[in-house]
Amino acid sequence: MRPMHHIISTKEYTREMFDNILELAEKLEPVACGEIKSEIMAGKILALLFFEPSTRTRMSFEVAMLRLGGQILNMGSVEASSIAKGESLADTIRVISQYADAAILRHPREGAALMASEYSSIPIINGGDGAGHHPTQTLLDLYTIKRESHLDNLNIALAGDLKYGRTIHSLCYALSRYDAKINLVSPPELRLPDRIAEDLKMRKIDITITDNLEDVIEEVDVLYMTRIQKERFPDPAEFTSVSASMRITREMIQNAKPDMKIMHPLPRISEIDPDVDATPHAAYFEQAFYGVPVRMAILCKVLGMEDKI
Ligand code: CP
Repeated sequence: MRPMHHIISTKEYTREMFDNILELAEKLEPVACGEIKSEIMAGKILALLFFEPSTRTRMSFEVAMLRLGGQILNMGSVEASSIAKGESLADTIRVISQYADAAILRHPREGAALMASEYSSIPIINGGDGAGHHPTQTLLDLYTIKRESHLDNLNIALAGDLKYGRTIHSLCYALSRYDAKINLVSPPELRLPDRIAEDLKMRKIDITITDNLEDVIEEVDVLYMTRIQKERFPDPAEFTSVSASMRITREMIQNAKPDMKIMHPLPRISEIDPDVDATPHAAYFEQAFYGVPVRMAILCKVLGMEDKI
């Protein structure tokens, strides 16, 4: 398997590429939970460039690097950096390339990570670009499905904000490599963008579309719930009209398969009732942990360290 350089999207990844990262992540789990110490990344520096808020992506990359013996260089808030003086993303990237060995970038503009990669001499990892892609979330989502359910013959519901939810966009393409049956559940206003639906059709994926979770809840192996992305709505009135329409409660899942798992990239707002957390279906906090071994595997790939695992 050749080393990866930038990680911008997983759209063109093959099943072999996904499986390779999932296998590396499995080997790294004891390091991720602190059972085994590692110094694989000693002397390496990861830059964190977050132009939008984040808890999990930022901190799980940070803990992944620290547990592998590497170090972190955090740009901090946009207000505290020279971006506030008007410095361009291209110049920021050119400079950070002189300071670090790899960089993780989150940016509100779709396409920002691809653009950054064109100015960078170090690997750029897309930590989410607007309503575009979130490839490292997709990899940890696949890993969660593998660990908590199964990737073969998977029947999954992707629910919530399918229009603006970048985790959904990336995950759809990845699931197409596993021949999953995908049930798209959203209010009509938040359907999957046409360009992605067309791509999935070309890949001959088995898809159903509904606006009612109850249509599919009894048959799915995994229910992947997402937050309505308030910050991406051009019209706040449109957000208000759809925000209450998707909410999972204990009552709704009582006839689900006993081993059905509920995932969510988090943060959740109101779309999963906290009463669901104590059920055996809830897998979203495990999912947040799996971000650590998966991001360790990603760092090893982009920095050419996988042979040392
Ligand atoms: N899932 C995810 O990307 O979470 P954060 O926004 O907290 O990074």
